[in-house]
Amino acid sequence: DSIPALNRCLVLVGMMGAGKSAVGRQLAQRLGLPFLDADTEIEKAAGCSIAEIFEQYGEAHFRDGERRVIARLVDDGPIVLATGGGAFMDADTRALLKEKALTVWLNADFDILWDRVSRRTHRPLLQTADPKGTLKRLMTERYPVYTEADITVVSDEAPKDETVNRVLAAVS
Ligand code: S3P
Repeated sequence: DSIPALNRCLVLVGMMGAGKSAVGRQLAQRLGLPFLDADTEIEKAAGCSIAEIFEQYGEAHFRDGERRVIARLVDDGPIVLATGGGAFMDADTRALLKEKALTVWLNADFDILWDRVSRRTHRPLLQTADPKGTLKRLMTERYPVYTEADITVVSDEAPKDETVNRVLAAVS
């Protein structure tokens, strides 16, 4: 199958647990492009973890740093970039991505997201008394905005390479 040539960044958006990093890594390999994870780049730039940034400085400060880091990354030539779930919700970050990148929303339903986020890693936004309710609320707030991405690809229980194939087919 033919691999599309990209002249701009391919940026994955969507909820935590949608598979942005895992799918993005494989996607980059298939496209022969570097893969970067915005959360990891923010941690490098800040010299501390995302959780620490949230705890010590709050979400607004995190979003400012996130916007700056993403702006720098999309200007550096074609890469595959996984963004944190809230990045596309920031109006300025969204405008920048819409202008400069090809945006792909990995759309997963609640059960898939919950299954993935409840098994793995520390997500500061879900450290609440009712994480399931918080996840549902975030989905309700965010899904209408995620539909503004250029392309929507379903991320379900299919193997990761199947999701990667769906993205490649959609961007060809
Ligand atoms: C966030 C998602 C996280 C991280 C931060 C905030 C969000 O990234 O950026 O905890 O607002 O949904 P992942 O989507 O990679 O988990």
